[in-house]
Amino acid sequence: MSKNDLNLLYKGLLLPRIAHSEESLQYLENFQVKDDDVFAVTYPKSGTTWMQELLPPLLNGGDLTSVQTVPNWDRVPWLEETRAAALLDKMSSPRAIVSHMPYHFMPATFFKSKAKVIYIARNPKDVAVSSFHFHKMANFLADPGTFEDFIDGFLFGKNVFGKWTDHVKSWRNPELGDRILYITYEEMLEDLQSVLSRMLTFLGREISAEALDHVVSIGTFKNMKNNKMSNYSLVPEDLMDKKKTQFLRKGVSGDWKNHFSPKLDAKFTAVIQEEMKETNIRFPWDEE
Ligand code: A3P
Repeated sequence: MSKNDLNLLYKGLLLPRIAHSEESLQYLENFQVKDDDVFAVTYPKSGTTWMQELLPPLLNGGDLTSVQTVPNWDRVPWLEETRAAALLDKMSSPRAIVSHMPYHFMPATFFKSKAKVIYIARNPKDVAVSSFHFHKMANFLADPGTFEDFIDGFLFGKNVFGKWTDHVKSWRNPELGDRILYITYEEMLEDLQSVLSRMLTFLGREISAEALDHVVSIGTFKNMKNNKMSNYSLVPEDLMDKKKTQFLRKGVSGDWKNHFSPKLDAKFTAVIQEEMKETNIRFPWDEE
């Protein structure tokens, strides 16, 4: 199938048809955001599934039932996806919602609300590697071609969800004030417990120390890989070919070093630096 059949174009943003439709995007635009909604926003492959594991118990006092019994896509739905309409209107508050949308694609009610956002960023080189492997195993995404070609598409906004730099920059909007908490995938890898504590403080929630330990435990890569409700094993093989690679693939930082040639690394760094230079956004990986 050609790239055009697999994707749809929404306001200049290429989105996978499998999970997005005119109706779902209409639903997104008209969505009634509540003040106690909590959004976890990511550029794809930056830790979305991880947040779908962690947010429910943080918001419900540490109850792990939904993590053990409800698939991640129904437990914490994507605002823009086709399943949202059937799920979000019935969900009890506080609702945890994920989104890959850039800031200005959020519904009008979001901007007037007090809803909180946790934005998770990840080293774009590792994001690109993760996305490349995902494109290989997901039959509903275009064949990624060679790694070099895929990186070109990633850098120049030809891949689904557009440019990483546009996404990251859009969510640094000062209008958000203290409604947004910025965390990185790398911080979560390094010390999940302390990131969870920051999230709890930001959300104005408390759970017992014992419950927090349990959340840290269910959130380890190993335990998530074994959780049928989160490891995408419920998705049929003709949609995701798990023989090629697992959805929960490596779960590390720095795998890009196994994929980038020095030349490609220099090009990638130069393009990202150029696009970020007018901003004051700095990430730990910029120093690497
Ligand atoms: P890799 O392909 O590098 O392994 P998303 O959920 O946004 O699509 O992101 C998927 C990436 O997050 C994958 O990266 C996946 O392995 C990683 N991931 C998911 N849960 C994780 C966890 N508990 N610990 C570390 N990485 C995790």
